[in-house]
Amino acid sequence: MRVISVKDYDEMSEVAGKIIAAQVTVKPDCVLGLATGSTPIGTYKELIKKYKKGEISFAECKTANLDEYFGISPENDQSYAYFMKDNLFSHVDIKPESTNIPNGQNPDAEEECNRYEEVIKKLGGVDLQLLGIGNNGHIGFNEPAEGFSCTTHKVALTESTIDANTRFFASKDLVPKYAYTMGTKTILGAGKILLLASGENKADAIYRMVAGPIEPGMPASILQLHKDAIVIADKKAIRLLEEKAPELITTKMN
Ligand code: F6R
Repeated sequence: MRVISVKDYDEMSEVAGKIIAAQVTVKPDCVLGLATGSTPIGTYKELIKKYKKGEISFAECKTANLDEYFGISPENDQSYAYFMKDNLFSHVDIKPESTNIPNGQNPDAEEECNRYEEVIKKLGGVDLQLLGIGNNGHIGFNEPAEGFSCTTHKVALTESTIDANTRFFASKDLVPKYAYTMGTKTILGAGKILLLASGENKADAIYRMVAGPIEPGMPASILQLHKDAIVIADKKAIRLLEEKAPELITTKMN
């Protein structure tokens, strides 16, 4: 695992933007695995800037998002489909038919999960998967559990994730209680992983992900098994790792 320590959110976004732009440059028809949430918004802004300057094009790219709330329509402004349009897709030249996201409106979980795995397979797998990390160590919506999940599945969100997501909804009652998510095996299938973290509330998860044992109680710890995983964390998010296991930080940019 390569761990890059950066100053703040802006530097994290800049470094991540450069890595994704490099991926798109060396393989214009690459498959990008994308994430939602607060963390990647700055990275998407960097990519939009690079596109507008004519440095990169997404015309041949394909994308597959990590997850989507269950029972929500793409027109709902809290859906991840809406988020992706709003924060990236509508600002660059990606073809709408090249973007993929689980269909939160399909009530048949088995059918939807099989369909999504098939989509990823047909794309030839994900070249670079962008990830955020939950305060509790979740990746995608793979929450702490007794065992690691495998392929795309329907998941009940934990109380802590529902609480964390309440900030985006008018009230806690409106936060969806289920989601479709790529499984940990699906995520680990990507050629390269790029996990971003910013802020003090991620410090414990970053420390345990990088330095702790690989265990399903800390889903992100499984990334230690990936041959090409890069973590970019800002000062606040890396504070505990820096205190307790500084030797695991590979590159310091701040
Ligand atoms: C989003 C996702 C989640 C988030 C995580 C962090 O597609 O899969 O795992 O990456 O919850 O969220 P933020 O970035 O809002 O702190």
